[in-house]
Amino acid sequence: VTLSSPSNPLYDGLADHYDEHFAAPHRRAYDDLAWRACRPLWSGPPGSIVDVGCGVGRWAGRWLDAGHRVTGIEPAPRMAAAARARLAGRTGFTLLEATVDGADLPSGAYDGVVAMGSLQYAPDLPAALARVHGWLRPGGTVAVLVDSLAALVTELARAGRVEEAAERLRTRRGLWRTGGHEASLSLWDAAGLASAATAAGLTQVRVTGLLLGAAVEGVAGLNERLRADYDTALAQEWARAQAGPADLGKQLLLTARAGPSGPTG
Ligand SMILES: C[S@@+](CC[C@H](N)C(=O)[O-])C[C@H]1O[C@@H](n2cnc3c(N)ncnc32)[C@H](O)[C@@H]1O
Repeated sequence: VTLSSPSNPLYDGLADHYDEHFAAPHRRAYDDLAWRACRPLWSGPPGSIVDVGCGVGRWAGRWLDAGHRVTGIEPAPRMAAAARARLAGRTGFTLLEATVDGADLPSGAYDGVVAMGSLQYAPDLPAALARVHGWLRPGGTVAVLVDSLAALVTELARAGRVEEAAERLRTRRGLWRTGGHEASLSLWDAAGLASAATAAGLTQVRVTGLLLGAAVEGVAGLNERLRADYDTALAQEWARAQAGPADLGKQLLLTARAGPSGPTG
């Protein structure tokens, strides 16, 4: 049972100012695009959603606003404390301080699982998908956001960091350094992510790339366009996300459903 993630020191360091992190135009944009894609997935009557790696509770709060019950899972103690403080007193919110592998949840009990930018830190993302599948009721939906290998390699190559690009491609791992800490994460391509979901027994698997503009015009160029006219640029990025190819997206959004007879059926 794993209750602690190697990325805890990095995320604990970011906890106090995590919302500000999303003031950067490209982060705000991928988050807005992901929300626009995910919100309709649970637009029916109030249900129960697991938010894996819920961080400071940004998305958990949105699902609560939409009338759902939310179980947040968060291994970094300071992130978890921030989520507790933010959502204190909100009916329907439960928080487990654990990793996806360590969280003890009932099987077949949830309408949805969202994991925004968290499963890439799990030691084995395909195994985590199978685990998450087990929590879903038959027909329940999962949405997972991870960083894209192809987009990162493109970004590094554009910046002249060719050796690092080759290293990322070879290892299929990224390294995020910030605030004196670093965290290692797995990097995914659309086909690999889709096959991991299929191998986990999920159905109706779809992978969408978000922020293809980062590969087309570079992150700086994309940020410039978002700063100049956010709504127009976001609408363009939404259209690009629908057109694909997903791999060019800076982030990959996987959506899939538990089969009608559930994970073991
Ligand atoms: C990029 S942040 C995203 C936070 C939140 N989902 C959001 O969008 O604001 C990734 C989160 O995943 C958490 N995390 C790291 N390893 C994890 C694991 N093995 N299982 C679950 N969550 C994990 C981190 O502590 C961090 O809060």
